[in-house]
Amino acid sequence: MNSFIKGLAVFSLAMAVSGLALASDDWQGGDATKGAKVFKKCMACHTVEEGGPNRVGPNLWGIFGSGSTHNPDYNYSAGAKAKAAEGLVWSGETLFEYLEAPKKFVPGTTMSFAGLKKPEDRRDLIAYLEIATGAKQP
Ligand code: HEC
Repeated sequence: MNSFIKGLAVFSLAMAVSGLALASDDWQGGDATKGAKVFKKCMACHTVEEGGPNRVGPNLWGIFGSGSTHNPDYNYSAGAKAKAAEGLVWSGETLFEYLEAPKKFVPGTTMSFAGLKKPEDRRDLIAYLEIATGAKQP
């Protein structure tokens, strides 16, 4: 391979990798212990443990990798159902965006929560949720 083509290949790879990083890295690296404190804001309406009850909002066990409206025993809003029909899947990335402004991300949602403006709060909360909802070992 001549060096120009080699250089081009390395450059394209670097662009591809940095593109991915830009799209998906923001939510990573949170502190689960701090996240447990942030979750106090959610506890009035949500439980996380396996088999936990639905409150005002659905139990969140198994949320990662599930579609929006993941809990079959919960009566979701039309807005949440529309997102599910669009194919929304909950992940670190989608939760990071959703939790900043739930009503913007899911128009018509019945989740009355203004959102967490600070990225570090959302990062920490996601690190906690990953463990608490069974997506990751502590
Ligand atoms: C005032 C009650 C309330 C608070 C506080 C609240 N939620 Fe919710 N949440 C709801 C309701 C109600 C829904 C169902 C929304 C719908 O059907 O549109 C919901 C839905 C969700 C969903 C989607 C579930 C699914 O199965 O698709 C997630 C994820 C979620 N909430 C996370 C959180 C987190 C994390 C917090 C804290 C930062 C929080 N919520 C705070 C009431 C609340």
